Amino acid sequence: MNLLVTAGPTREPLDPVRYLTNRSSGKMGYALAEAGARSGHRVTLISGPTSLEAPVNVNCIPVETAREMFEATSIHIDRADVAIFAAAVADYRPVSLAENKIKKSEEHLALALVRNPDILGSARSEFGFEGVLVGFAAETEALEENARRKLTDKGCDLVVANLVAQPGIGFDSDHNEVLLVYPDRSEALPLETKVHLAHLIIQAVEEAHNRRG
Ligand code: CTP
Repeated sequence: MNLLVTAGPTREPLDPVRYLTNRSSGKMGYALAEAGARSGHRVTLISGPTSLEAPVNVNCIPVETAREMFEATSIHIDRADVAIFAAAVADYRPVSLAENKIKKSEEHLALALVRNPDILGSARSEFGFEGVLVGFAAETEALEENARRKLTDKGCDLVVANLVAQPGIGFDSDHNEVLLVYPDRSEALPLETKVHLAHLIIQAVEEAHNRRG
């Protein structure tokens, strides 16, 4: 199988020395890329900035911003049989990039932000992707309900959902506890290392790919 994985945070520049980002470490996406390559698949990893080493036998494409991730995905998704969107894409970016460092002046400073493209949400509609589509849902409440809405809205075959803001799992942790949400059922996986979970998720996408024939 040809596997495309997005991973890590995106970084949205504000001026030459500052940017907006989030707490994603990229560990889950890198573990998926590595598990995919170990299972004999051809893997392309489109990654925002992380401190992780590129997994061996993986074609790694580094990007910074959501718009760069969108562009890279639009090019590479054509060849993919399975696309897994594990990146924590910034939903908004600063409206403008200041040419020079923003100097402090008033007591309050309001930042104007504009929506970034929804990369996963563009997979079916804009990129015309017909393979197995896997999204992630990081939620703080109503896990299954929110994940199922994302599954339907974005045309996914599977959404890997987890509750963030729980100590010890999720963002930046080596562990996670996820719910696999399919169109016809859900399956809770036990608390596991991200490396082990990645193998379980790769098995799940292999099965979804085989079901499609
Ligand atoms: N995603 C994406 N592009 C974006 C935002 C999200 O590709 N601009 C993908 C993520 O990689 C993930 C999924 O969409 O697979 C869900 O991301 P999440 O941030 O949980 O959901 P959103 O769709 O952004 O919805 P909300 O923030 O309102 O919960």
